[in-house]
Amino acid sequence: MLHNARPAPEDDFILRVDNLSKSYGAVHALRGVSIAVRRGSIHGLLGENGAGKSTLVGIISGQHTPSGGTIALNGRVLENTDVRAMEEAGVFLVTQEPMIVDHLSAAENLMLGIWPSGPGGFVSWRRLNADAARMLEGSGINPKARAGRLDAVARRKLNILRAMFSGGKVIILDEPTAALTVTDRRVLFDFMRRLKAEGVTFIFISHYNDEILDICDAVSVLRDGSLAGGSDDIGAMTSEQLSELVLGRGLALFQRERVSHDGKAPLVSLRGVVAEHVDLAALDIAPGEIVGFTGLPGAGAKELARAIFGLNPTRAGTIRLGDAAAVALPRDPSDAFAAGIAYLSDDRRREGSVSQMSIADNIAMSSLGSRSRAGFIDSAAEARVVERYFQAMGIKAPGPQVAVDTLSGGNQQKVCLGRVLATEPRLLIVDEPTRGIDIGVKQDVLRIIDRLSRTGVAVIMVSTDTDELVRAADRICIFEHGAIRETLSGDAISTERLRRMVQA
Ligand SMILES: Nc1ncnc2c1ncn2[C@@H]1O[C@H](COP(=O)(O)OP(=O)(O)OP(=O)(O)O)[C@@H](O)[C@H]1O
Ligand SMILES: [Mg+2]
Repeated sequence: MLHNARPAPEDDFILRVDNLSKSYGAVHALRGVSIAVRRGSIHGLLGENGAGKSTLVGIISGQHTPSGGTIALNGRVLENTDVRAMEEAGVFLVTQEPMIVDHLSAAENLMLGIWPSGPGGFVSWRRLNADAARMLEGSGINPKARAGRLDAVARRKLNILRAMFSGGKVIILDEPTAALTVTDRRVLFDFMRRLKAEGVTFIFISHYNDEILDICDAVSVLRDGSLAGGSDDIGAMTSEQLSELVLGRGLALFQRERVSHDGKAPLVSLRGVVAEHVDLAALDIAPGEIVGFTGLPGAGAKELARAIFGLNPTRAGTIRLGDAAAVALPRDPSDAFAAGIAYLSDDRRREGSVSQMSIADNIAMSSLGSRSRAGFIDSAAEARVVERYFQAMGIKAPGPQVAVDTLSGGNQQKVCLGRVLATEPRLLIVDEPTRGIDIGVKQDVLRIIDRLSRTGVAVIMVSTDTDELVRAADRICIFEHGAIRETLSGDAISTERLRRMVQA
């Protein structure tokens, strides 16, 4: 077998895909894509929503079968490319939905599904357990910790470690930083760099140019299912060049012309709100104002937003909307909805779209309630609303009648946002509105919210994306211990200042 150990001429590249394509009926998700991934590198994958990134890594990891093309590992074209074959060859996809069993310990989670045999054919659990514990300790995770108690970044790490523990040589991460704070991202990146030094190869999908430039060695950009370009030397790329490859044109970054709302009568007045992780004395929001809520997890930004929409129970507090009297905060979302409050959840998968339904039905769904109250559903008006938001959100699909679960991740999110906007609220609460959305559409989404605010709608934008807050908000509240610790507004808003304040 010695001759097999001799490195092939192309051994520099652990993985090559050649001329891969994938069609779903008339939809060409991938058209003849060829990419080579260098051993021990972090290879970035970038592209608009629906460009084919998840499809590509789905094929590489064996989840989907290609319509054409080949995959080669270590210079050898693979005959069988199903999940089992790919995992046996050392290729693992770490999905966003963490495949973690909460009631088991971290170490036990690593060993899930692994059935190694000792020399006599029996499992050496003791050795396995010791190996798992050693691997975890180097990562800062207590092997005995219950997985259910781990935070988001530890769970991400646990998933990566499990892939490695199962023999992973090429580990694919599809948007792993969604839902992570700035600090957590740094922790994850340091961790990836350490594993890379140990010889692990990563394929890393992200919509953030700065992340790609920070952590990747090489990058490939997909556009409309084809390879639009890329570089083997990330150091030679700029953020502008990346955007241009993604979009096929230059990117006009959105910047709101901040409005001063001093002295205006508030549209929303909150007083004495007490809820889990929330202890807020007072907050007023003017009509047309966009207020950013940010802070570390558990600091109260997200929790207050959810309390205002009746998703989290409150122990005390009132809300006044416009000229109405101050009342207790909504008890549930339908209460909130009736009062003219709309909410876009950051967990679009759980609280967001109804996936088997069409895009049109999803968009029409929430606005339907208000219209049918008049006694009938105006289907022509409904069709107009659907068409308007389908266009405005730039949803990439053959048409509004298509089922939501055939859309790419980012396009599903656009449907959710379209649905929330279609309710025409007085107070719009958006939680991480552009998470998972590509850089071009991100500007469109911020523009849409900006335009909406100019019609007098008050907006609360809960976000951990400092760039987004700086581009879109009139005022930014930094939360700590359930209350607003500091506020930035007008010209005082800058990315550096905000980053410093959130981490302080
Ligand atoms: N099961 C399916 N049926 C029909 N079309 C599909 C199916 N799965 C994916 N597609 C289409 O394939 C294309 C590529 O989708 P993919 O999920 O790979 O995009 P992506 O680059 O990962 O986008 P995002 O950034 O939004 O996650 C999209 O147009 C999508 O609608
Ligand atoms: Mg995707």
